[in-house]
Amino acid sequence: MQPVLLAIESSCDETAAAIIDDQLQVLSSVIASQDDLHQQFGGVVPEIASRAHVRNILPVIDEALKRAGKSLEDLTAIAVMTQPGLVGSLLVGLTAAKTLSLLLDIPLLAVNHIEAHLYACRMAAGSEVFPAIGLVVSGGHTNLYDCRGATDFELLGSTIDDAAGEAFDKVAALLGLPYPGGPEIQKIAETGNPQAFNFPRSFIKDDRLAFSFSGIKTSVRYTALGQPGSREPAPELTPQRVADIAASFQEAVAEVLVAKCRQALKQRGRTSLCIGGGVAANRRFREELEQLTASGIEVHTAPMNLCTDNAAMGAIAWELYRAGTFSELDIDVVPGLVRA
Ligand code: KG4
Ligand code: ZN
Repeated sequence: MQPVLLAIESSCDETAAAIIDDQLQVLSSVIASQDDLHQQFGGVVPEIASRAHVRNILPVIDEALKRAGKSLEDLTAIAVMTQPGLVGSLLVGLTAAKTLSLLLDIPLLAVNHIEAHLYACRMAAGSEVFPAIGLVVSGGHTNLYDCRGATDFELLGSTIDDAAGEAFDKVAALLGLPYPGGPEIQKIAETGNPQAFNFPRSFIKDDRLAFSFSGIKTSVRYTALGQPGSREPAPELTPQRVADIAASFQEAVAEVLVAKCRQALKQRGRTSLCIGGGVAANRRFREELEQLTASGIEVHTAPMNLCTDNAAMGAIAWELYRAGTFSELDIDVVPGLVRA
């Protein structure tokens, strides 16, 4: 029988489990979203997230096994994302994984969530994609890496304030759109003019591989709601103006992301680029990436269903399994970003 592993993801607000075989075939992938719980707050509330993980984790694991037609006894190993993320959320997944590993007496594999996001590109490609420059662009991260191998990353730079996805979520909230904001902005931007407003493109002409999205967020706020202290009332926020703001915001973010990828590729002399994380699902950003393809860069984007948080990208654990990189039962979660 083909070896299969169970991967568990609970780093933020998605409780997920997947069964993946050693040829990287995803036999099942179950995701319990908590979006409805966090919607009224416009972002993830950590304590609510941890409690929902506790409720969801066992049913999600059961469902993943059922959909794959497997039982616990069929598992070769247990993989779990242990970093980075919300501490309470990560602990729920890790506790479940440790318990199963102990109970079934099979190896425990600790996966880095960021590396897993980029491994989604490897899964889609069906062949090697590393070495490459990697961009993880999500609600929690906007990080550039030099990826020497699937689990050998050097952090080149990250955001100094908000993550790109967080900016999408915050801009959506101030335009009166629901959480998560990325897909909403993308949808409404389709009827807007991306040149209507010239929002700031932070660090775009700077050699530093850093991002900043708080300036653009403030600029959108002033455009939408008016300058604080100004005698002039803000123009009425008509549906067309909302669409124009959304399109112009999305345009600016897409431009910055692509420009920084180009700089990283050049600085490191790489010709392959891997992009993962929720914002990688953005259509305008994907179009903008075609510029890089046109200039000879091999661009790998995570497939749509593996962009936002999921457990299937835990397939990277097979790399750890093959390398014999097993974890002990006393491992802990690592909430923060570890700099290589
Ligand atoms: O990777 P992910 O599911 O969770 C984190 O690890 O953070 O990313 C979620 C983020 C949210 O901020 C969401 O608004 C954004 O990804 N997102 C998008 C799109 N789909 C999801 N942003 C822009 N365009 C999209 N189509
Ligand atoms: Zn993520």
